[in-house]
Parts: sequence; structure tokens; C-alpha cells
Amino acid sequence: MSFNPDLCRNESEVESKLIVSYLLPKLGYGIEHWHQEVTLGSIRLDFLSFAAQQLPCRLDGDSSLALVLEAKHPRQNLDRHQRKLRRYLTSMNVRYGLLTNAKEIRIYKREGNDIKLVFKCWGSEVDDKIEEIKELVGRNYLGLNPKPNIPKNYDNTTKSETKKIVSNILENQAKLVNLETESNQINQSRRNSMKVIAIYHNKGGVGKTTTVVNLAAALSKKGYRILVIDLDSQANTTFATGLIQFNDEQFDDIKDSYIYHVLRYDEYCSIPEVARVSKFNNPEIDVVPSHINLMDVEGELNGLRSTQTALIKKLKLVEEKYDVVLIDTPPSLNLYAFVPLVSANYLIIPSDLKPFANQGLSNVKNYLQRDVNRFRQMMNKPDIELLGVLPCKINHNYKFVQYTLPKQIQAISRRYEISVMETIIFQREELAKCIDKTREVGDLIIPEPSSIFDYAPDSASCQEFELLANEVLNKIGLQ
Ligand SMILES: Nc1ncnc2c1ncn2[C@@H]1O[C@H](COP(=O)(O)OP(=O)(O)OP(=O)(O)O)[C@@H](O)[C@H]1O
Ligand SMILES: [Mg+2]
Repeated sequence: MSFNPDLCRNESEVESKLIVSYLLPKLGYGIEHWHQEVTLGSIRLDFLSFAAQQLPCRLDGDSSLALVLEAKHPRQNLDRHQRKLRRYLTSMNVRYGLLTNAKEIRIYKREGNDIKLVFKCWGSEVDDKIEEIKELVGRNYLGLNPKPNIPKNYDNTTKSETKKIVSNILENQAKLVNLETESNQINQSRRNSMKVIAIYHNKGGVGKTTTVVNLAAALSKKGYRILVIDLDSQANTTFATGLIQFNDEQFDDIKDSYIYHVLRYDEYCSIPEVARVSKFNNPEIDVVPSHINLMDVEGELNGLRSTQTALIKKLKLVEEKYDVVLIDTPPSLNLYAFVPLVSANYLIIPSDLKPFANQGLSNVKNYLQRDVNRFRQMMNKPDIELLGVLPCKINHNYKFVQYTLPKQIQAISRRYEISVMETIIFQREELAKCIDKTREVGDLIIPEPSSIFDYAPDSASCQEFELLANEVLNKIGLQ
């Protein structure tokens, strides 16, 4: 892939088109080797990447394995940013910094308390110069470069704060690298086996949440290790999995640790820290809850570019812990739909096959093509794989099933060129009821929702979700 600087019209395009999709992969940094928008005390870095190969990595004295990358607007003069880069490299003790506005690319090396320009080229020449750049700051070369002299007057007090925060990043990095080595040794074939499935439709009330919780239950009954993530501020999955046990908001124990925290903090709030064990099904299932407050923080999260990749990174850290991750989404085209769709491998679109739901399919298709898959290409991720439209809440009246349903199914494949799954989830009372189950504690009525498998094990709905689980396992290559 070659790079064309004229395609970068603003700072964010310099970041996405030059740094994320071109430079970092060419220099050998995978998504697990870099962090975007890293805040270290008063310093805010655009990108910090690591070449860590040998662990533990120590920051006292030399962070030779780290590289700072700063992107500027194409109209900005890089000379004006040199001082800031110097401050970053010297206060963090990082040896190399790359500064670019897409038109020009510069690499500086820290020498004592100063920095020196060691490489410069035009953006238009970067394809020809990439080997030279690689030899300076490529992931495989950075670790080989000789250790720098540590400045004698290096200030230990400023260092201690940044050291703490950076060591957190390194810890995460260490976990990633450890995971890689361990799993390489243990079982190569299982390493990439965790499958992430987003359940999404931009039409509301079509059965997304019902599908997430009961498919999770079906898969966990089969012995798969399941994680459920609720990304809908309505928090219906959080409720349906029994995590909302309080009747009064003063006892709300979710608002301080839920999906917002996973998305907000690049380095903290890992999935195991935020996930809760849900007893709505036996075996228990881990659930990352949502909260109504997620609605209020959308603007804040939208303003942070790291939100878009936070879930991808954090899922990578639990690759060995789960076999399947199911993500519930809101009925919208907002950030909370975007994040699961860029993080998942597969997509299921539940639909009641009614006219509005069908018309919504065009929106979903356009959204996937225009926004989701384009972003995934930038991240070097393959397009999301559609497992199909899942007919849900379908009337089981005999005539309807015989005559109307086949026509509805055909219309979807013909008009929208989207395949329809073989399983059909019919409208059945017990499916709605199992979510509304309660238990009495003294004078109080406490919600005690249950999976359909534990609520009505002999029901037709159970059989349907069992069929769905088999179809999904088959399509994602786990069966
Ligand atoms: N197969 C079904 N049979 C009977 N009721 C169902 C079925 N599927 C879903 N429902 C009921 O329909 C309502 C909407 O379902 P659900 O919450 O799963 O939809 P959703 O797509 O997640 O909605 P939203 O877009 O608001 O998140 C719920 O009350 C649920 O209990
Ligand atoms: Mg829902």
C-alpha cells in the first residue's frame, strides 16, 4: 500500500491515514503495540508505541523500546512543534519521536536533554524511504539500537509520576506479550479462537436483547466460555441478566463501573475489572453492564479518538478467557453501534421482518459499507462478516408461516442482498416472561430474570435457541 499525502486534509486524517493505516503497520507495530491519546501528567501524546520484546520492560533509565508519534495539521509548520516534542522525549526519557504533518516526516532522537533531527523526508517520498525509517524506529530495530546515555541531571521527581503511569501501560503491554508467548507455547490453534459477535439492527424492539441473552445461555450450556457486553444505554441486557438488583438509585452499584469505563480509559478498567458474574443462567455468565448514564457521556466519548479502538484492544487481553463474546447494541447509528461493529468479527441482524425493520436494513448496509468497514480497513481488520438476518418475534400462526413468512424471507435476500439465517425465533409468551421474573424478599419485589433455558427448559423457544446456537457455532467455525 502506498501513501498519498494529498488525502490528508486535517490532523485527524494525518493520524488515521498516515500513522494508523500506513506508518504503524509498515513499521511492524500491530494494534496491540500502540496507544492513542495517552495522557501522562500534563503531557498528552497523540501516539505512544512499544517495541517491547523482552520483558519485564524497565522504565528507570531507558525507555528505548518506546516511540512517540505526533501528528499535526497539514498546514502546520513542524518547526513550531519541535520544542514540545523535546519536552515529551526528555521528560519521559523516550529516545525517538516522529513528527509529521503528512507533507513532511521528521524523526528526532533524544540526546541528553535535547533532541536532534536524524531523519527527514517529504510525505510524497515516504514509500521510497520506508526502509530507512524502519531502521531507525521500526519495531524490530528499536530494541536493537544501542542504549542512550542517561542524562545526569535527569529530574527524578517529574520522572516518578510519569513512570507510574507509563508502567501501567507497560503492564498492559506485558500482559499482551505474555499472552502471545504463553498461548504460542500452549496451543497455537486456540490463540485466535475467541469470536466476537455483534447483535445489531438500527430498528428498535426487534429482539436484539432477547437474542443476546438467550444465545449466550444456549452457548454456555454447551460449555463455551461466554462474555456478554451491553453497549446500549437502555441497559436492557444488564437488566435481563439480573445485574440490576436495586429498587432505589441510591443503591445503584453499576454507575461507577460499567462499559463507559472500559471505553473511556485506554490503560485502565480492563474487561475482567468491569465484568460481573451473572446468575441469570446456569452456568453463570460474565457480563459487562451498561447504565442509563451512558447516554450523557456520548459527547465526551465521541471527543476522544481512543474510544473507537478501546474495546478492540481490551478484548485482545481476554482472548484466552472466552470462546464467544456477544455484544448488545442500541437501535441507532451512533458511537455505541460503531464501537461493537468495528470490534466484532461477526454480525447478526435480528429482525421481525416487518416493513420498517426491512427499510432499516438499507441503513444498516450503508452504515457498514460507508463507516464501519472503511474504519476496519484503516485498522487492517477484515470487513465484518454478516451471519445473516435472524427472523425474531415471528408469528407462529400456521397460515402465516406457510404463506407469508417465505415471501418475507425471499424479499430480504432479493431486495437487500442479505442472507437470512435458517433458524427462526417465533413470538412466544415464555420468552417475554422469563425476563420479567421476580422474587419476593420481605416486602420487596426483586427482579430475578432468567434465561429461557432455566425458566422453561422444555419450551419451543429453548429448542429454537438451541438451533440458533448450533447454526452460529457452525458458521463461526467452532463446531
Ligand atoms: N420471540 C419473542 N417472543 C415474545 N416476545 C419477545 C420475543 N422477542 C422479544 N420479545 C419481547 O419484545 C420486546 C423487545 O425485545 P428486545 O428487547 O429483545 O428487542 P431489542 O431489539 O433489543 O429492543 P431495543 O432496540 O429497544 O434494544 C421485549 O419486551 C421482549 O421481551
Ligand atoms: Mg435491546
